[in-house]
Formats: sequence, structure tokens, C-alpha cells
Amino acid sequence: MIEYKNIHKEYQGVSVINNINFKINNGEFVVLIGPSGCGKTTTLKMLNRLIKIDSGEIYIDNKNIMEVDIENLRRNIGYVIQQIGLFPNMTIEENICVVPKLLKWDKDKCNNRVHELLSMVSMPYEQYAKKYPKELSGGQQQRIGVLRAIAAKPPIILMDEPFGALDPITRDILQDEVKDLQKKLNLTVIFVTHDMDEAIKLADTIIFMDKGDILQIASPEEMLRAPANEIISEFMGKRGNFLDAENMACSDLMRTPVFTIKDDKKTLECIEIMKKRQIDSLIVVDKAGIFQGVVTIESIRSKGKAGEKINSLISKDFPTVLQDDVGKTAFDLLMDKKYDYVIVLTRDNSVVGIITKSSLAKALASVVWGEM
Ligand SMILES: Nc1ncnc2c1ncn2[C@@H]1O[C@H](COP(=O)(O)OP(=O)(O)O)[C@@H](O)[C@H]1O
Ligand SMILES: [Mg+2]
Repeated sequence: MIEYKNIHKEYQGVSVINNINFKINNGEFVVLIGPSGCGKTTTLKMLNRLIKIDSGEIYIDNKNIMEVDIENLRRNIGYVIQQIGLFPNMTIEENICVVPKLLKWDKDKCNNRVHELLSMVSMPYEQYAKKYPKELSGGQQQRIGVLRAIAAKPPIILMDEPFGALDPITRDILQDEVKDLQKKLNLTVIFVTHDMDEAIKLADTIIFMDKGDILQIASPEEMLRAPANEIISEFMGKRGNFLDAENMACSDLMRTPVFTIKDDKKTLECIEIMKKRQIDSLIVVDKAGIFQGVVTIESIRSKGKAGEKINSLISKDFPTVLQDDVGKTAFDLLMDKKYDYVIVLTRDNSVVGIITKSSLAKALASVVWGEM
């Protein structure tokens, strides 16, 4: 586990990282995202001690990184940056084997590792191992940069906008490859980007930074569904599209505000309200706003008496869902039952909205075609 505790950093008295805290589990793919200058690279480079921490501590598996021998620390942390930095006078094989060589792996072990790594990214050894970096395309060079970082099997990989300079198609392929390698090798990855599409595609967890602060730590789904503030939702732009219907909660489908009446109303009053609003049922709540049931025009007509209160006519037999229930629950009720709407409740039974076929269609349309 990696743990940042109260990490602070400033340059010339100006704070650029403001006491941030977060934890990363082994095998987790974490993406640091945020506007340019928010402190992503600084946060990343403190882990392999390329940048000095002013105050706070970083722990890897409960060891303070300041107490670990720096060579040892870096050997366990692969590092990939945008400006690839392959050595131009070394072959691809030699480039990949820089760290294993330093670790005194013998020739066979190095050679086997290069075979293995190149085959993982579909670049056959025979075709590529003896080439020099300038003979490869940008995407191929970046791929080798990734292989070089994982060659000596470090458990942690840091990647700082590694694919920023690549064309979209190559970037897409490399993203898939990195995610694949990460899963296969159970790597812990911290990946910096300012591209939300990339973050959503790769991350188990997204850490959103702004001006040296962490604004939100969440899974991509959570961040899409409930961005912590304006900055984040703006950053995501129209990515509401990524919120797939499957992940929608009942609260995403409902219409608000909802009209309710108190349970001490009388029958004639209720009929007046129904007439005026052209509806044939009313949602009844008590003084505290707690859901009591529904009163319908039929029940008033068949059982009600003028001047009487509606208490005895309230029916509990009406479909309700909790706001956190999956949207499908409401859908099924609307499709199967004879009711025109489903009532959405909080955990303590306050009424927060209703879902009708039309509010449902509107919410689903916004997923398919964007904000309507
Ligand atoms: N060596 C430095 N001296 C002074 N300011 C720096 C230095 N390195 C970074 N900064 C400032 O720290 C802030 C965070 O930088 P950085 O971590 O590189 O941001 P990001 O990677 O999110 O774009 C920026 O405002 C940047 O200008
Ligand atoms: Mg940066």
C-alpha cells in the first residue's frame, strides 16, 4: 500500500501541494487528473524522491520512503514520461535491459525477459530487438518506454502523461496494452493525465486535483454520477454520455418537485385538487413529510363521504422505490403494473420525487444523446 500523509510542498513560499492525503492499494490503477499546474507531476515525483517533500510522509508498505535507500526505492518504482527518453545509441534490447543489467541479471535472463516483454506488445523479438529507437515510430518507442519501466518487475509504475504526444489511435492501443499489463502483472500504477477520457478508461480510482488540493477521490462511475463540484463537472464536459443506463439510480430518473397533500385533508378538498391538476391520485404525507400512501379518485368515489377526512381512504398499495435503488427497479414497476408513476422515497420515507414513463424516457435519452 502507498500512503500520502499530509504532504506539503512549496516553491519560493508559494504552496503548490496543500497537505494532501490519500491511499493506494496494491494492484490498484490510480489516475491523477486536474488542470495544468495543479500539482500532478509534483505529487508523482515525490514518490520516487525526484522532488523533495517539505512536510508530511509517504509510506510504501508502511515504510517511510525517506528511510528507504534511494536506489532500492527507485528499483521498485518504474517511471514512464512523455519524452520517452530511450537511449539513441542503444538497441531496443539494450534499452529494455538497462535496469536488469544494473541489477546484474545474467545474459540469458535479460534475453528471456526481452523476448517475453516484446511478445506482450506484439513486437516480435526477431524484428525489433536489434533496431535503434529512431527506426521505430513514436508509438513503438513509447511502448518500449513502458517495457523498459517494467523490465525488472517493479511492483509500482509511475506514468506522467505517457501518451500525450501520440495520435489518438496509437494512444488508444497503448492504453489497452498498459491496462492489460497492469492486470496481468497486478501492478500498482499511478498515472497522470489531464484527459478525462483517458482517466475514465484506465482508472480504478480517479484522484482529482486542483491548485494543490484534492477535490475528489472516486471511481470513474462515481465521479461521473456525482462530481464533487463545478470544476470537476466542467472538466468532464459532456461526458454525462458515459453514465450508462445500467448505473443509473432511481434518483437519476425522477422528476421533482413532487406535489403532496397532508393526511388531514377532507374528501371534497381532494377532489377539487385532482380536478384542478387533472390527476386521479394524490400522494399523502404526514406533518413531518413522511409518506403515508396514496388516495385515488376511485376510492373517494366508492368509499368516501363528503366532509370526512381521507385517513381511512389512504392506500399503501402503491409502488415505491428508494432513491438509491437501481433505476431498473422503477422501470420494471412502471412496465409491469397498472400504475402511472412510482414514488421515490429516502431511507426515512420522505417523498423526494416521482418517476413517470416520461421522466424515465427523458433520463435515458440524455444518456444516449447527451444533455437534453
Ligand atoms: N521547480 C519549480 N519551481 C517553482 N515552481 C514550480 C516548480 N515546479 C513546479 N512548479 C509549480 O508548481 C505547480 C505544480 O506543478 P506540476 O506539479 O508540474 O503541475 P501539473 O503536473 O499538474 O501540471 C505549478 O504551479 C508549477 O508552476
Ligand atoms: Mg505535469
